[in-house]
Formats: sequence, C-alpha cells, structure tokens
Amino acid sequence: MTALLEAENVTRVYGVSRGAFRPPAEVHAVAGASFALEEGRTLAIVGESGCGKSTLARLITMIEPPSGGTLRIAGKDLAHAGRSDLRDLRRTVQIVFQNPYGSLNPRQKIGTILEEPLVINTRLPAGERRQRALDMLRRVGLRPEHYGRYPHMFSGGQRQRIAIARALMLRPRIVVLDEPVSALDVSIQAQILNLLADLQDELGLTYVFISHDLSVVRFVADEVLVMYLGRPAEIAPVEAIFEAPQHPYTRALLSATPVADPDQQREQIKLEGELPSPFDPPSGCPFHPRCPYARQICIDVRPDLVDVVVDERYPMPTKVTCHGIVEGWIEGAGRPVDALGSVSA
Ligand SMILES: Nc1ncnc2c1ncn2[C@@H]1O[C@H](COP(=O)(O)OP(=O)(O)OP(=O)(O)O)[C@@H](O)[C@H]1O
Ligand SMILES: [Mg+2]
Repeated sequence: MTALLEAENVTRVYGVSRGAFRPPAEVHAVAGASFALEEGRTLAIVGESGCGKSTLARLITMIEPPSGGTLRIAGKDLAHAGRSDLRDLRRTVQIVFQNPYGSLNPRQKIGTILEEPLVINTRLPAGERRQRALDMLRRVGLRPEHYGRYPHMFSGGQRQRIAIARALMLRPRIVVLDEPVSALDVSIQAQILNLLADLQDELGLTYVFISHDLSVVRFVADEVLVMYLGRPAEIAPVEAIFEAPQHPYTRALLSATPVADPDQQREQIKLEGELPSPFDPPSGCPFHPRCPYARQICIDVRPDLVDVVVDERYPMPTKVTCHGIVEGWIEGAGRPVDALGSVSA
C-alpha cells in the first residue's frame, strides 16, 4: 500500500533579524523530517515547545513551502505539481488550530463560516451549500438552529466542533490537527477526541495529530513521531512508543508522564538542562547535552534515522536517530535492520 502522505528529509529555515548591525540568524525550525502515513491512519507528532510541530503542520497544509526535501500527497510531489493539481491538493488537506476563539470570525454567522470554503472553491448553488452546512453541523453534534448564530454564543468545545466542521466542508482526505484539544477542559477534551475518532471512521480521514500531551497521543495515534529541535528522534507504532521506547528523549518524555498502571515499572530519566536554542543547535546528536547515555560519537556525528526491530509483535520497525540504540550500548535497544532489510545479530 502506498502512503497518502510522505515526507522525505523536509526542512524549513527562517531568517530572523537580530537588529541593524548584526547579520540575520537562521532558525532551522524543521531540519529533516521523514515519515510516511497511510490513508485512514493517525500520525501523532509530539515534542517540546519550539521543536517544529506547527511549522511541519504549515508545510503539510501548504500554508508555506518547505526550504528543502520532498512532500508527497497521494503520490504527487508538491514542489512539482501544476496549478490545477495544487488547487486539488489544497482541498485534500485541511487544518484545525488549537484556539477555537481566534480561528472563527466573530462577525460571521456559523452558516456563513461553514459555507465560505464552498463559496471560494466550488460553484455549488446556495441551497446546496446550505444543505451541506446543515449536514455537517449534524455530523459534528450541533443542531440546525446553530446555523444562524454567532461564534460568541458557543462554548469552547462547541467552537472546536464548528472549526472541525469547517475543515471538513471541502471533503478533505487529510486533516492536520494542531493541538486541537489543548485549550479545552479535560471533560470536553474526551468528547472532542471521540468526535474526531467517529468522523475518522465515517469519512475515512487521515489525521496528523499534534500534541504535547502523551495521554492524548496514546488514545488517538496509530503511529507517533517524536521531534527534537526540528529533527525526528523516533517514529514508531503507538504501542512500541509506550511499551518499548527507544530514543532516550522519548524515554525521558514518558518518564515525565504519570503511568496509568502502577505495576508497570519504568526506568526514570529526568530531562535535565534547558532545550538548546534552535539558532545554535548542538553538534552531533542534538540531544547529547541532555542525554545520560551520551558518548563521544554523539558529540561528533549527527545520527541517521535507522530502522530497528524492537519486537516482532509490532506492525513495523521503530525508526530512531540514536547512536546508543544502533550500537546497542543502551539497555532495551532493538536490533538494527541493515539496508538490505535483514536484521543483524
Ligand atoms: N515565521 C517564523 N519566523 C521565525 N522563526 C519561526 C517562525 N515560525 C516558527 N519559528 C521558530 O521555529 C521553531 C519551531 O517553531 P514551531 O512553532 O514550529 O514549534 P512548535 O513545536 O509548534 O511549538 P509549540 O509547542 O510551542 O507550539 C521555534 O524556534 C520558532 O521560534
Ligand atoms: Mg505549535
């Protein structure tokens, strides 16, 4: 099966002014992201603030282009797509943001908000647009009378339902959700997560779900991409991430999360030190200054993303950028898969 969404070594660099007398600095917001996502599945992207999650979201949704690397949607390379292909691809991918207050125009009625994408992108007559908006309101758990109301008349959870409805109006195949429940009360979070799961089943949607909350990720994800300073640290099936995390950074993130099952003992790794500045990322492995397992090679050599087999039960190998895992000096390391696909001893 080919992937619906593929990223190959995708980068995004921003020039940032540092005042009149200093040359502009460069921020490598995304510094080599690679992953493949099949239709109908959910990839969660996690990592500390500033690691490049929202930047990656903007690249996938074509809000801005990558500085390098390749993004493919349904097999089409975005950098080489023609105008009409691009128009179709833009409809294929939609985004929902964290803040449902900021993302809805307070002066527009809900009906207008929902129909706007149809007005811009289709020639549907008014009656048909209205019908689609009413149908979508029902799908997201709202009522027909909400059609004529304004955003301020809704709660945070209801507004996020409206934002989700708007994102679905053009019948996208991929929805990027950038911290979609982080601004909501915990009880409301569960309702929205259930709604997203139902919509995914009904409509066959593919999700890229950005979150810093690992308990949410565990609930929604099929696969997890852990990012550190713009780079992938680890990509793995969700069960492998939680049962047998490889990268020391993933292990540290999990140590910081309360364990639901008190019998499950896990080694504790504390994240020490500050997140380094993205203007001046560390040499070698960017995690080495905070890593309890770091050796000289970690300071000298940038690790590649390597497939390791952690347990045959998992549907796919874990991909990890860590010398200690590939060389096997970290406890619990999987066996690296070499380029020919065979597992080395
Ligand atoms: N338009 C921009 N111009 C300059 N720097 C930017 C821009 N957008 C993002 N950055 C920088 O790129 C890095 C990644 O930012 P990004 O917003 O993608 O992180 P994030 O993982 O979404 O963080 P958070 O969890 O706080 O939302 C940060 O260092 C940020 O300051
Ligand atoms: Mg963000």
